[in-house]
Amino acid sequence: MTNPSLLILPGDGIGPEVMAEVRKIIDWFGANRDLSFDVSEGLVGGASYDAHGTPLTDETMELAQSVDAVLLGAVGGPKYDELDFSVKPERGLLRLRKEMDLYSNLRPAQCFDALADFSSLKKDVVAGLDIMIVRELTSGIYFGEPRGIIEEGNERVGINTQRYTESEIDRVARSAFELAMRRGKKLCSMEKANVMESGILWREVVTEVAKDYPEVELSHMYADAGAMQLCRWPKQFDVIVTDNLFGDLLSDAAAMLTGSLGMLPSASLGAPMANGRPKALYEPVHGSAPDIAGEGKANPIACILSFSMALRYSFDQGAEADRLEAAVERVLADGVRTADLLGEEGVTPVSTSGMGDAVIAALDASL
Ligand code: NAD
Ligand code: IPM
Ligand code: MN
Repeated sequence: MTNPSLLILPGDGIGPEVMAEVRKIIDWFGANRDLSFDVSEGLVGGASYDAHGTPLTDETMELAQSVDAVLLGAVGGPKYDELDFSVKPERGLLRLRKEMDLYSNLRPAQCFDALADFSSLKKDVVAGLDIMIVRELTSGIYFGEPRGIIEEGNERVGINTQRYTESEIDRVARSAFELAMRRGKKLCSMEKANVMESGILWREVVTEVAKDYPEVELSHMYADAGAMQLCRWPKQFDVIVTDNLFGDLLSDAAAMLTGSLGMLPSASLGAPMANGRPKALYEPVHGSAPDIAGEGKANPIACILSFSMALRYSFDQGAEADRLEAAVERVLADGVRTADLLGEEGVTPVSTSGMGDAVIAALDASL
């Protein structure tokens, strides 16, 4: 049997730093669990722009379309701030999402017991938290036409369009209901049907899809109220489904519930491929963190947990994903902390590679 294929795109800033730790973990599974991958590596974002003058080459795009899963670090950075919009690092990531048609972006927010004291919210608000935000990823205001900056009278106007078709809402809603069925059977849909037509249609379509999932308790919330409820009592939620922009904002907010943006993984899933598995890209929710890039301070856990999501959703290795997540939990319970997780007195932070090594040691201990 051939090994499953994995394309690694480390990207910019802390992307390559956290990805180096994931490489160690991939190697560990090859050496210890008879689970090897055909790994190829490519450039995305600023790194690709520097080498090729574009944030994603057609060759890398084709490779991404052909592999079983893509694992991405992060893109962007101040070095690229002045570039033309069409070649900015972020465009490379958006092209991957759009052309691979990765419409369902799963962003779990889980609070590890060892970090419950560390959240900016009170411990009882976040302890045991385990929610899943499903963000629509290939449409909405990120991609809607018309868009651009135009001249109007004697001034310029910036234009973006929020646009959703029924089928786009239907398919992301179905993926959220499917997840809810495998979790706590509760789904909250968030939009702004009080002010936006796209929100009215969103609510109608989600309500229609709910008829196919009678076991799931569906609720609706305006996204602004949803943001407030996420901070007030996040444990009221199980699965949240929302559009591209609201999902971007709500998932960063949810990240802080867990203690650090450096903890949150994500899976971006599309339609099933010939092998029955979804087309998929896995990446941490955080960005390239230019403020700490190159200093060995980045927390690699978000990227490590993104690989764990790949094991679960692309490679049917749920037990090995459990093993990796338990190893991360063990390391945190033992008090190992990167600098972003410091709250307790007298704890010396470990480096990015120190955290990766600690996870490897916990994996060794799991055998
Ligand atoms: P960011 O997520 O890069 O950083 C926000 C803050 O969180 C910073 O203080 C950073 O140091 C910290 N942080 C983030 N990840 C961390 C980690 N793993 N360990 C420790 N601390 C971490 O967001 P930003 O500063 O708004 O954006 C920087 C660049 O990244 C921008 O160019 C932006 O477009 C890009 N970005 C890319 C992605 C992506 O590639 N998916 C996501 C978000 C932002
Ligand atoms: C994310 C990021 C991206 C987004 C950017 C870098 C294009 O913020 O993945 O959350 O806005 O979707
Ligand atoms: Mn974001």
